[in-house]
This record gives sequence, structure tokens and C-alpha cells, in this order.
Amino acid sequence: MPRLFSYNDFAQGSDKVRLYADKHSPVIICDSEAIRNKPFTVTVRIGKTIKHPNAPDHHYEYIQLWNLETLIGEIKLQRASYGDLPVQIEGGFTFIPKVGLRLTALAYCNKHGLWQSEEVYVTIKDE
Ligand SMILES: [Fe+2]
Repeated sequence: MPRLFSYNDFAQGSDKVRLYADKHSPVIICDSEAIRNKPFTVTVRIGKTIKHPNAPDHHYEYIQLWNLETLIGEIKLQRASYGDLPVQIEGGFTFIPKVGLRLTALAYCNKHGLWQSEEVYVTIKDE
């Protein structure tokens, strides 16, 4: 079982430690309410406010979006497509929810491991 890191693990640390956690943490961006059986879009951004390196030996490789234990989707990142400078990579997932959601994003840095977002709740309503 891989170790999972989250921003809160480092929130009590020094400024340097919190900046390290900030640039690694995936953030879920979406509406708090979805319509049952209609397309719903979730954006996942890597980094709360800070850009992460995008060098050949240090970069993000994939983003996953989960609803509890169910994998909704995965985006494989081709490093060279995002340039050589630090960047806040974003990925979008559009899917059809049937029930309310408890979303978590995971993202993998090839140097600093697997990071999880905060959990986001989405209620569902009928049209
Ligand atoms: Fe990293």
C-alpha cells in the first residue's frame, strides 16, 4: 500500500514545509450540486497556490478522480506537453453522476509520491 500525503499532514509545519505541501496538493474545483444523469464537470488542479516543477527528473505523472472507492477517471500526463517551467497543471473530468458524490483526487509526483486532495461533497438533485 503506497503512502498517501495530504496538505493537512504538513499544515502545522514551517513556511517551507507548507509551501512544499501546497505545490503538491491536488485541488478539486466543481459545483457543490449536480443534476442526476446529466454531465457534470470537475477540474483538478495540482497546487493550491504554487506551481510544481515540470523537469524531466521531477514532474507529475497522473491525476485520478475518485468517488469514495470508485475510480471515475485518470489523466496520464505527458510531461513535455506542459513545458519545462514550474506549472499548475489542470485536468478536467466530465461524467454522468447518478447519486451524490464524495470526491477525492489523487496525483502522483515521480519524486515526492502520491498526494490526495481534500474530500469534496456534491449533492444531487433531479432536474
Ligand atoms: Fe514533487
